[in-house]
Amino acid sequence: MYSEKVMDHFMNPRNVGEIPDANGIGEVGNPVCGDIMKIYLKVVDNRIQDVKFNTFGCGSAIASSSMATELIKGKTLEEAWELTNKAVAEALDGLPPIKMHCSVLAEDAVRKAINDYRVSAGLEPWDFKEHEDIHEQVHGG
Ligand code: FES
Repeated sequence: MYSEKVMDHFMNPRNVGEIPDANGIGEVGNPVCGDIMKIYLKVVDNRIQDVKFNTFGCGSAIASSSMATELIKGKTLEEAWELTNKAVAEALDGLPPIKMHCSVLAEDAVRKAINDYRVSAGLEPWDFKEHEDIHEQVHGG
């Protein structure tokens, strides 16, 4: 049911923890399953110098956060903003359809963290609507 990459990132998640002097933090929760993901960014010169996460959630959510942090590390904020949950799932060699919503948490948490940084740096936050379709996805609708 799960790809080897999902299992690997679930069993050995990369970049777990907190960044004490993070300058961008994004937290999202899935109202249906109750899972929570928090992403910490250390942004220097518009680039994500370091990123860590804490996820209280299912295996797919942990694997998605781990992969997402790997994908955005060293990237500019513009590049990281383009990260979609589909790209995260593809990098994991796929997630089962009923688990796709877990990867949505990663996309939303990264974007929230980027906007948190932008606002505290005195910049305009970028347009962003948190996914509202998580609920239907959980129920397969
Ligand atoms: S994020 Fe809640 S079941 Fe995966």
